[in-house]
Amino acid sequence: MTVIYREEDGDLGQLASKSIGMIGYGNLGRPIALNLRDSGVAVTVGTRSVESRVLADEDGLIGKTIEEVVKNTDILLMMLPDEVMPTFYLEQVSPHLRRGHMLVFSSAYNLTFRFIEPPPFVDIGLIAPRTLAATVRESYEAGQGFVSFVSVGQDASGNAWPLLLALTKAVGSLRAGAIEVSFERETELDLFMQQAIMPALHHLMTTAANLLLARGYPTEAVFAELYLSGEFSHYFKLAAEQGMLNTLRNTPLTNQYGTYSRLDRFNDLKLERLMEVTLNEIHSGDFSREWAKEFLDGCRRLNNFYKNQESLELWELEQQTIDLFGRETDSGT
Ligand SMILES: NC(=O)c1ccc[n+]([C@@H]2O[C@H](COP(=O)([O-])OP(=O)(O)OC[C@H]3O[C@@H](n4cnc5c(N)ncnc54)[C@H](OP(=O)(O)O)[C@@H]3O)[C@@H](O)[C@H]2O)c1
Repeated sequence: MTVIYREEDGDLGQLASKSIGMIGYGNLGRPIALNLRDSGVAVTVGTRSVESRVLADEDGLIGKTIEEVVKNTDILLMMLPDEVMPTFYLEQVSPHLRRGHMLVFSSAYNLTFRFIEPPPFVDIGLIAPRTLAATVRESYEAGQGFVSFVSVGQDASGNAWPLLLALTKAVGSLRAGAIEVSFERETELDLFMQQAIMPALHHLMTTAANLLLARGYPTEAVFAELYLSGEFSHYFKLAAEQGMLNTLRNTPLTNQYGTYSRLDRFNDLKLERLMEVTLNEIHSGDFSREWAKEFLDGCRRLNNFYKNQESLELWELEQQTIDLFGRETDSGT
């Protein structure tokens, strides 16, 4: 049975005799560090840039060089982009590891695909938020917390779980619930969402927008109806709270009948087969090898994808609509 950890499973006292360091103070590192600070847990932040170090100081944390943090802390939270983490680990972390060290990751990617292979004498933990970085802080401040996947990949000290759960409590995740999931499952679920659900969603939205615009529906109305009004995201917010079926049941009857009477039409899309192929590529490691090669190649394909997309009139119309509504776009994660 799946284990879900709650507030009472974490004891902050476990961290009392431990020094805690964080490497990287970016999208996720900063919210996590601020949550730790507000839970009364001192964190030393190691950054590459002076700007990030100053920001950490201004936030009431202790900003240091990466080397100082790696050498002088017991628990190291690894908050760098996954793509740069393996080289960074090899050159700047691994030479300083000693018995009693714990490494905590917020994505299992590099361990699952063995781009990082820590020695057997250190503890390895995972606290992987199932939300965007900004929500990690917002939900903590709102007193709700956020759901995460947690795991111990290596328990060299025999005390890795109590330490991990104390940290999970301090970052605010036990309030919402932390689900125990292996490193491999966390990686595969994360990639599956990115590669099977997100492309399908993008495809749905662009196909619908192109069809409706070609049929002469007003641009602003089309984008508002599809997602800019926020109705679509609100629907899924409700679904997260009460379930998909109940959310649909609370919509007008015409909507309920329209949805269910047309559901089977989409069986023809062979979605299940496409998802299976995608999952197999993830599970076999084919995707991770492809992405490592692409990253080494300077993200040439990714840049070309952007170039092709940016040449589409659809996105210009979308931005004009956003401007009309007077909103600012946020391209951060
Ligand atoms: N972002 C999210 O919503 C989210 C959600 C769940 C999990 N995660 C996981 O959280 C981890 C961190 O992701 P992130 O989005 O927070 O990363 P990020 O903001 O893109 O980068 C974090 C920091 O890494 C530093 N950095 C970049 N390259 C470096 C290098 N070669 N050497 C040293 N420092 C370097 C930069 O610091 P400087 O300012 O010092 O240059 C940057 O501020 C990843 O494992 C990711 O999978 C992220």
